[in-house]
Amino acid sequence: MVVARLRAAGCVFAEDEAALLREAAGPGARAEVALEGLVARRVAGEPLEHLLGWVAFAGRRWSVGPGVFVPRRRTELMVRAALALARPAGPLLAQPTAPVTVVDLCCGCGAVGGAVALGLRAQGAHMVLHAADVAVAATDHARRNLEALGGRVHTGDLFDALPAHLRGGVDVLLCNAPYVPTDAIATMPPEARDHEPAVALDGGGDGLDVVRRVVAGAREWLAPGGSLLFEVGTGQVDAATRLVGSHGLRPRVVTDDDPDADDATGGTVVVATSAD
Ligand SMILES: C[S@@+](CC[C@H](N)C(=O)[O-])C[C@H]1O[C@@H](n2cnc3c(N)ncnc32)[C@H](O)[C@@H]1O
Repeated sequence: MVVARLRAAGCVFAEDEAALLREAAGPGARAEVALEGLVARRVAGEPLEHLLGWVAFAGRRWSVGPGVFVPRRRTELMVRAALALARPAGPLLAQPTAPVTVVDLCCGCGAVGGAVALGLRAQGAHMVLHAADVAVAATDHARRNLEALGGRVHTGDLFDALPAHLRGGVDVLLCNAPYVPTDAIATMPPEARDHEPAVALDGGGDGLDVVRRVVAGAREWLAPGGSLLFEVGTGQVDAATRLVGSHGLRPRVVTDDDPDADDATGGTVVVATSAD
């Protein structure tokens, strides 16, 4: 019955969603009432992750909820690109005893920064993690996700939210900013356009308004040899790389749209590296 209702509402993985909603409804006498409430909201179009209270990202569950952007699988590419910078042969572990400073700007629920922090630790790096977002709903979830990992979370506009002592010392500046052109928001799936806040999606006329501000400020915050990583759509790559070059950073584009690769997500990440 639940599966049929979800399928009729257009949920492609109706069996999986039904099992997850049952898990979220919990055990006990009120489980059926709770399940009915969750199914009704899902059928009305709320993102599954907002109902569950968590999102699966980079192999782990992260707290997320209504009013907060749901991290996308394609953004796992940004995590992999950041960790590649810290491989033993990569630039960040040249001094293995010095902590790597990671900032997740426009952090949303903080899953990207958290996944990079866990990956760096697994690679044996010492690291310091800061995350920031303008939306209080987002930083509430980011605190839940990141404080247990030793991360510090700040609320405010882009770099203004960060502690001043980080200026000139950031090794990895992650920033999955909003990059959807304003006119394209109407074409997004209802789950996104009706249930994720405009501030998380709307990147202005060409989608790059927030990215432009981040790139303009990045050089001042990056450590020598540090890198800014941001996601773009395929049609924005040329404008983004020109922008990076015009601010004295070296651009490199990372994609994983190889249809034969198991972990292909279709993402595109620009890595902008400051001079040593
Ligand atoms: C596309 S969402 C990405 C969230 C997160 N990085 C992720 O990938 O799940 C963009 C985020 O940028 C935040 N944001 C938008 N404008 C901002 C600004 N001026 N300063 C800080 N955060 C901002 C939004 O609140 C939203 O959480």
